[in-house]
Amino acid sequence: MTDSSTTNPTPAAGNEDKWSSQMYSKHASFVPALGGPVVQLLAPQPHERILDLGAGDGVLTLDLEKQCQSVVAIDSSADMIDAARKNGCKDAHVVDGHDLVDHEELANGQFDAVFSSAALHWMKKDPVRVIQGVNKCLKPGGRFVAECGGFMNIAEVRTGLHWALKKRGFNPEEFDPWFFPGVQTYRKMLEGQGFRVDSIELVPRLTKLNTDVAGWIDTFGFSFLKPFEGDVEERRKVIEEVQANLMFSADDGVWHIMYQRLRFKAVKV
Ligand SMILES: C[S@@+](CC[C@H](N)C(=O)[O-])C[C@H]1O[C@@H](n2cnc3c(N)ncnc32)[C@H](O)[C@@H]1O
Repeated sequence: MTDSSTTNPTPAAGNEDKWSSQMYSKHASFVPALGGPVVQLLAPQPHERILDLGAGDGVLTLDLEKQCQSVVAIDSSADMIDAARKNGCKDAHVVDGHDLVDHEELANGQFDAVFSSAALHWMKKDPVRVIQGVNKCLKPGGRFVAECGGFMNIAEVRTGLHWALKKRGFNPEEFDPWFFPGVQTYRKMLEGQGFRVDSIELVPRLTKLNTDVAGWIDTFGFSFLKPFEGDVEERRKVIEEVQANLMFSADDGVWHIMYQRLRFKAVKV
């Protein structure tokens, strides 16, 4: 794919880039490390052309590149795409998942599969539009294989963040960036946009962090911290308070969060 931002990627239009590839590799290396089951469900083939949606810093993209003909990695974060390129991804571009549907080069039915790991739940503005875009990228019979946060994902830390904001007079709904659908909700969305669902399940996963809850919030909870951008002390207090209320999430000094993954395979009919 051609790209005007090959050396200096800019954030996708209208998006403020709050992702930090440095924080991500420091605090969140467990995310791509736990991507094995969804890569297995994808079962990439050597002749295939695959689109990785929300590819992040490209750790899983590179894994896919070894198994198929080519992979195009897209992500709305310029910082993540920059890191993906530095990590060796050959074809990585700043594209928001919501804009796929109108994308001249990608939305023309050329991909054998669209893959996505740990990213769809961030595309909350219009999840149906994202699915429409995926459909337009696929060949007939092409597959959409993904894993994302599902119903009741990270409920304890999300509840903690909601309380911390409510207590300070903010409406947490306005700052909550996630869409965690249940099986029936997402199945209907897929079927409504021209997919046959071959498998879809919620998979509970107690997840060991390689950081503490504070590090996790710093990496992933940035939207909730927006009201405190000008107040470093209050920002720190919010993070500490949420972690303090989750003391029981540490076992022998290792912090855990209860994840609930939505994993599915759908085929373009
Ligand atoms: C938790 S990371 C997952 C990255 C990678 N797939 C992995 O498994 O390591 C989520 C990624 O979704 C991307 N993302 C969030 N909203 C997006 C959007 N609207 N369009 C495309 N990517 C998005 C973020 O920039 C981030 O890189």
